[in-house]
Amino acid sequence: MTKTAAIIGGGVIGGGWAARFLLNGWDVRVSDPDPEAERKIAAVLDNARRSYPGLSDAALPAEGTLTFCDSIEDAVEGVDWVQESVPERLQIKLDVYGRIQAVTGGDVIIGSSTSGFKPSELAEGAAHPGAIMVCHPFNPVYLLPLVELVPSEAAGADLIGRAKEVLTGLGMYPLHIRKEIDAHVADRFLEAVWREALWLVRDGVATTEEIDNAIRYGFGIRWAQMGLFETYRVAGGEAGMRHFMAQFGPALKWPWTRLMDVPEFTDELVDLIADQSDAQSGHHSIRDLERIRDNNLVAMMRALKAQDQGAGALLNAHEEQLRAGTVLAARAEDIEDAAQPVVTIHRAVPLDWTDYNGHMNEARYLDAFGMATDRFMELIGCDAAYIEAGGSYFTAETHIRHIDEVHAGAVITVRTRVLAGGGKKMHLWHEMSEGERLLATGEHFLLHVDLATRRSAPAGPAVDAALRRFADAQAGLPLPEGAGASIRSPG
Ligand SMILES: NC(=O)c1ccc[n+]([C@@H]2O[C@H](COP(=O)([O-])OP(=O)(O)OC[C@H]3O[C@@H](n4cnc5c(N)ncnc54)[C@H](O)[C@@H]3O)[C@@H](O)[C@H]2O)c1
Repeated sequence: MTKTAAIIGGGVIGGGWAARFLLNGWDVRVSDPDPEAERKIAAVLDNARRSYPGLSDAALPAEGTLTFCDSIEDAVEGVDWVQESVPERLQIKLDVYGRIQAVTGGDVIIGSSTSGFKPSELAEGAAHPGAIMVCHPFNPVYLLPLVELVPSEAAGADLIGRAKEVLTGLGMYPLHIRKEIDAHVADRFLEAVWREALWLVRDGVATTEEIDNAIRYGFGIRWAQMGLFETYRVAGGEAGMRHFMAQFGPALKWPWTRLMDVPEFTDELVDLIADQSDAQSGHHSIRDLERIRDNNLVAMMRALKAQDQGAGALLNAHEEQLRAGTVLAARAEDIEDAAQPVVTIHRAVPLDWTDYNGHMNEARYLDAFGMATDRFMELIGCDAAYIEAGGSYFTAETHIRHIDEVHAGAVITVRTRVLAGGGKKMHLWHEMSEGERLLATGEHFLLHVDLATRRSAPAGPAVDAALRRFADAQAGLPLPEGAGASIRSPG
């Protein structure tokens, strides 16, 4: 059954939460007094729809329904989760919780996006304090997986477990922080870095751009893949962390930081930083910068996905869950009607598959068809174990027809037909579509190969039989338009 989330406060962060819930198949109700909230959330959703669905190589569930409500009470009635993202003012948050819990009681978790307040402060005087917990996300909420989960002491293990389950189901990483502290964990680093950066600009040591360069050309890239401690363990050389600490421990006593010193927050300091930032980035609108950021985040996370590291490892784990509810068959035996083309790809177009024309790059059509072929090979038993044992198919010839364009975030389906198969040969026909719209066809001729001799050889009996089952059942279908064609130039 479709679940429903209430988003209370639909600004930058609430809009991001709305997108993450919707794109993971939840229905979403929003309450926000700002008359512009609907327009602002639509803009966030546009960005999310183009970037988030293609992060994984498995399709997300069908998008949920978005509704705007006139009151908090209407928004939270009967929901499964409440996410509060109102401004960072304690009294506003406390008033909102009172109104929510008058409707939901203590069974529904209220996750607070608060960057700084402790759960004990949020739960003060609440009718059901255990149900209010910090669920602190990072912008953009629809792409970054981290949520700092800080429950209050009143929260039972069942509520905490339920919160983790919901957040994990959204493809997020709930970092359970067991000891409450102002600003949780991550923002304490950001605050320290921010303080240091303000000093460096104020004292004329570096400009905003130079500081950004110091981060993005060096340790920023390192942090995204290994964090702090694992990075330093490697930096210690073969002796690892102990050596690193012995080497850099004394530096802690040297004047390398200004620690808790804070520069005076004067109008001059604000002007200095804002003017340098304008000079650095003023030629981009904020919406442009959001899109550049999203493109980069997707590209980096997908690169980490290929390495099964960091946020990429999380994407792979989420993908397993997504595949459980997909239209793709796990094994050929599960496909009852072998006479019909088989769905081999069902996924969204990732942002890093698109090019300067804004649509899917021609090389990615081959990528997608290559994946469809791999998937079909797996289905007939030419899987990792079979390849390990010394047999595989190599592609000998490919003909792709590009029929219509497709954009990032669109869900594409590839259906695969066997035109001929058996012995050494496998002749496949892939049709790629978005809904009813045909986008491309791919015709591929493959030869079975003995991996020891690197020469063609007949497939093993089980693979051969599975392939022939499809080839025989589909032999009666009319030949697809375009099959066997050579390149036709117009006129
Ligand atoms: N901006 C960030 O980078 C960031 C990151 C993580 C967490 N947070 C936290 O998220 C929360 C929201 O921050 P934001 O940046 O989205 O702020 P924002 O100003 O963009 O959005 C706040 C929204 O709440 C609405 N609002 C105000 N009173 C309300 C009420 N009584 N009921 C319902 N809606 C109400 C406002 O109209 C506004 O749309 C804060 O607690 C903040 O600390 C922010």
